[in-house]
Amino acid sequence: MSEQKPEEQKIEVDIQSPFGPRIAIAKLPMHIVDNLNKFCDGLVEQKQEEKAKIDKSANLVGHVTEELFCDMNHEGCHELGGILSGICKSMHNTYSEMKGIHEEAPPEAINILDSWFVRSYDGDYNPCHIHTNCQYSCILYLKVPDSISDKNFRNAKETYTTEGYIDFIYGSNAVNTSSNFTRQPIVGDLYVFPAHLMHVAYPFFGEGERRSFSANIILEYPQQMSFTEADTEKKVDESVNG
Ligand SMILES: [Fe+2]
Repeated sequence: MSEQKPEEQKIEVDIQSPFGPRIAIAKLPMHIVDNLNKFCDGLVEQKQEEKAKIDKSANLVGHVTEELFCDMNHEGCHELGGILSGICKSMHNTYSEMKGIHEEAPPEAINILDSWFVRSYDGDYNPCHIHTNCQYSCILYLKVPDSISDKNFRNAKETYTTEGYIDFIYGSNAVNTSSNFTRQPIVGDLYVFPAHLMHVAYPFFGEGERRSFSANIILEYPQQMSFTEADTEKKVDESVNG
């Protein structure tokens, strides 16, 4: 008697990565990049004394040629502001959903606390750092020189390409667990990530400018309430007089 084979059953396997920070990656249309570059070019052409007022290099960790304050109120930035709002809220909402967190009043907007253009040239780099006093940060590539490609320009014999790349670093290595995420800068590529996520921009070598936009972002909730010390004094006065 021949043995009956059980009916073939397909087993569905779902490989998930539920731990660690999430990074949103988007390719933005070229007109947004062009608008930002136009705005930045205008800042670059300013007289030295005017430019000194918006140069944030002294307060930022980058070992780069220039870091210029980007005023998001400029019309060239509005579309990007809206995109960042949508992405940050989605990152927050999808996480809340996954964790089963129900918010009566989820965030309805974002507040960009600070934003700036990073202008890097031959040998410039940005040491490993995090962004403080905010929830999200981002990087959008606006210009990438030819020397930053899928091959190292100076250390061409190396097979591991890093020149000019960004590296996000988190946790420690283990089986099937990576502690870094290395990406080649491509014009128009936008990365939005939690502000505490360590990242580094490796130096590149050769002619041309690597230009990017970064911002520090917090979520805005409809029920947000602000106080200053003056509110306390008002209360005290009222109770004393009342
Ligand atoms: Fe950064």
